[in-house]
Amino acid sequence: MKLTFKLFILIILISGCSTKPDVKVIAHRGGSHQAPENTMAAFKNAIKLGVDMIEIDVEQTIDSVVVVIHDATVDRTTNGTGAVDTLTWAYVKSLNASRSWKGDNFKNEKISTLDEVLEILKGTGVTLLIEIKEGGERYPEIEKRTVSAIQKFNAYSWTIVQSFNKKAIDRVKEEDENIKTLYLLGRSNFRDYYNKIREERERNPSLRFNYDGLAVSYKAWSKQSLDSVKQMGLETYGWTVGDTIAMKRLIDDGITGIITDDPDVLLKIVNPTLKYTSASLWLTVFYNFIFAVGSLLLIF
Ligand code: G3P
Ligand code: CA
Repeated sequence: MKLTFKLFILIILISGCSTKPDVKVIAHRGGSHQAPENTMAAFKNAIKLGVDMIEIDVEQTIDSVVVVIHDATVDRTTNGTGAVDTLTWAYVKSLNASRSWKGDNFKNEKISTLDEVLEILKGTGVTLLIEIKEGGERYPEIEKRTVSAIQKFNAYSWTIVQSFNKKAIDRVKEEDENIKTLYLLGRSNFRDYYNKIREERERNPSLRFNYDGLAVSYKAWSKQSLDSVKQMGLETYGWTVGDTIAMKRLIDDGITGIITDDPDVLLKIVNPTLKYTSASLWLTVFYNFIFAVGSLLLIF
């Protein structure tokens, strides 16, 4: 058989094997449409689903414990009241964190510490995306404590720290430059910031940023801005994506990662075989195996 024909078949085989889009599936607050937000129930569910990353929010108690909760107060998501920075860890951990959950399951979830979440993610292959909601201006040394937790678990390769507070991510890098960080931007301030860094880069093409990527309200991303930000050496993330058309558009446009409350939906887009029943999945695997063996015999 002619070499060119063999190569032709090989290229078809290789291209057939690489159709899965290269995008990170990120469970927002652990996947808050699947279980109470920012709780162990959500994190365990997300791990079971097979997400790439879990996004959490951290605040700090009056006795300096970094805790996983979105709001600055416990009022919306728990049966307690008060601002987190006025409450002790003993009180916060006694609360029921299922208050905002409408389902009949997950009735009594608890608030966790950052360390407890790192502990359950250790060795799973899932990356933890830690959002520092408010930095050291409100919570003294929260950046230092977050960095210490990452160092304690030697979690450099499976954690990323993000914040809307640029000073907070700067402080993280000052503490430990090996920790990966993202700068969070809303839809309203993305355009100005994007234009600013693009101009800076044009003036100085060797300019390096003090963070590793931008996590932006997803509607602000266009194909052009995604390409341009990637060319600056930065990763690109979009939050918080709820509709499948937007998910597909962002994947086609080459985004690094999508943050969603519905990681199960995104996983099915990324890996359509998840839609199959187990019987049809096995049939597909068997068929592909026969096809691959047959093709290889034909070539060699
Ligand atoms: O990951 C970014 C996104 O979580 C920011 O919004 O309010 O859900 O923390 P929020
Ligand atoms: Ca968040």
